[in-house]
Formats: sequence, structure tokens, C-alpha cells
Amino acid sequence: MPLGEILVKSDPHNLVSMISGEHAPYKAVEIGFGNGEFLLQRASERPDGLFYGIEVSRNSIMKATKRAKRSSSRNVRFFYGDARFLLDECFPEAWLDAVYMNFPCPWPKNRHAKRRVTTRYFVNSLAGVLKVGGSFELVTDDPQYAEEAAAMIPSHPAIVIDLFEPDPFRSLRTKYEKKWLEAGKRIFLLRFIKEKPFGKKDPKKGVIGLHKSLGRPCPALSELAPLVGKRAGQREARWVFRDCFVNPSGVILVETLTSDEGFEQTFFFRIVPRSDGCLIKTDPATRPFTTPSVAGAFKDVTSLLEDGAQ
Ligand SMILES: C[S@@+](CC[C@H](N)C(=O)[O-])C[C@H]1O[C@@H](n2cnc3c(N)ncnc32)[C@H](O)[C@@H]1O
Repeated sequence: MPLGEILVKSDPHNLVSMISGEHAPYKAVEIGFGNGEFLLQRASERPDGLFYGIEVSRNSIMKATKRAKRSSSRNVRFFYGDARFLLDECFPEAWLDAVYMNFPCPWPKNRHAKRRVTTRYFVNSLAGVLKVGGSFELVTDDPQYAEEAAAMIPSHPAIVIDLFEPDPFRSLRTKYEKKWLEAGKRIFLLRFIKEKPFGKKDPKKGVIGLHKSLGRPCPALSELAPLVGKRAGQREARWVFRDCFVNPSGVILVETLTSDEGFEQTFFFRIVPRSDGCLIKTDPATRPFTTPSVAGAFKDVTSLLEDGAQ
């Protein structure tokens, strides 16, 4: 696939189908690639490999895209989104040879701890998508973060720690690495290996699963009024229904905002009239990742319609 055509992707449905169709002897992901220099360097060293970068910052995506266009590598893909969810949602089981993370934001405050990679959810995702023998390489300037990762990540039954190296020599120094070295900080390189098989929790889970047929007529817009403004969920997975609209074909759109540990998504549920009832699904133009809050919101809409039918 030529680089210029698919450089930046954010629609999860397209990502899943695109990734599953790609084959290469070596496949790696970089999380939080910043200006993209590390990913592009790795990609140029292994032209037979495929290199996927995941970033939450649009600015970084733009910078890395420019850099990629100037480079000759055609084996790089950039994805816009939160790696905590994309890794699990988009990559098949036991599929990646390596995951790299250079200088992640350390999120030092306790209330932001869920955003660190040292969460059980992230480590399970990592163990699910790595091949046996695959590695996770983490470089940080934060000694506390390094210690926490070194203790927590290998507590997973399939992962062992292979390397904890202060002040490593690295042929390529990233932008943040140079910055921290100039400031006199120490750098820590950690490598973890997946040494045993570990399956993804629910390989069938994903964007495809969110639809349900109901044997009741399509509701009138007024039946959905109780949803508008309704807030639900708990701190880590919350959602609110913002508004409802109906189009001339009688399709109802429910505007929904969800938040999972700070990862926000805005999208629409569609309620589509059918000859034998109605169908609830996510709108393809705004399809979200199936995070816990999205699943919760879907359940809310479905229950309201099922109850209304009785
Ligand atoms: C300190 S910068 C490091 C950038 C680059 N890796 C380097 O070493 O120069 C951290 C990067 O991680 C990105 N980031 C933070 N949280 C992320 C997440 N959950 N998913 C993807 N990228 C993330 C930020 O946007 C930022 O570009």
C-alpha cells in the first residue's frame, strides 16, 4: 500500500480491516511517536517490515507526516488515537514483533495514574497483541516510572523483564531524549519479552459487534426524550446523550459523548426502521472504538427501546 494514500487513519473500522490484511516478516508499533523520527528510522532499517505509529496529538501527526513524505520509507502507517485502546482494538492476536514507547508522559499525579502504561488493562493488551518472543521496549527519563514499570509489567503471567539499563547507548536519540540528556537527566531503557502464549480477552470484541435488531417498530423521536441530557456510568467510563435527531427517511441519530479514563469520543447511534422492526447500530461515519463506556451507552439505548416496546 503506498504511503501517501493511507498515511493517517483514525476510523477504527477501517483500521481493523486494513491491518488484518497486511503481512510482513516483521511488524512493530510505536506509541506516542512525537515527530516520527524513531519510527521512520526503524522503517528505513527494515524495508521488509511494517511500522505502525499511534499518536493522540494531531500536531505530532502533522509533523511526522511531513517528515515521512520527505523520507523514502513506504512501510510506515500513522494512526490518530489513544494507544491504550487502539492497541487492543486494532491489532490481531499474537501479531506484533515489537512495541516501542519512547518517553511516555509520566502522569505523576495519582488521579492520572490510569493514563500510565503501567495499568493492568494496557499490559493485558500488550500480552494479547505481541507474538511469543515479541518485545516491549520502554525508554524513560523518570526513575520512578521506570521502577514502577519494572515491577508491574512482569507481574503479568506471560511477560518477563529482559533488560533494565540506565544510561543506555542508543544510536538514535529522539527529540525528548536529547532534551533530557541536555538537561543532565538519566535515561532508562527497559525491555520486556512475552515468553508464553496469552490470548486477547475477547478476540471477537470490536467495532463490528455494536448492533442489535429489535422486533418492535422504530420509535418516535419523543420516545427518546428521556435519553437527552442523561449522564451515566462511573468515573472511569462515563457517557452522556447530547441530542437526538430524525432524518427524512425516519432514521434516528443519537448524539453521544463517552469518556474512558479521559479518552473522549463523540459519535452517533443510528436507529434504523426495518420491515420487521428496527436496528440499533453505530453510525459508520463516526464509528467509535468499543470502549467500556461505548458498550455502556449502547446498552442504555437498547434497554430504553426494549422497555418502551413492552
Ligand atoms: C514526551 S512525548 C515523546 C515523543 C517522542 N516519543 C520522543 O521521544 O521524542 C510523549 C508523546 O506521547 C504521546 N501520547 C501521550 N499519551 C498517548 C496515548 N495514550 N496514545 C498515544 N500517544 C500518546 C504525546 O502526544 C506525545 O507526543
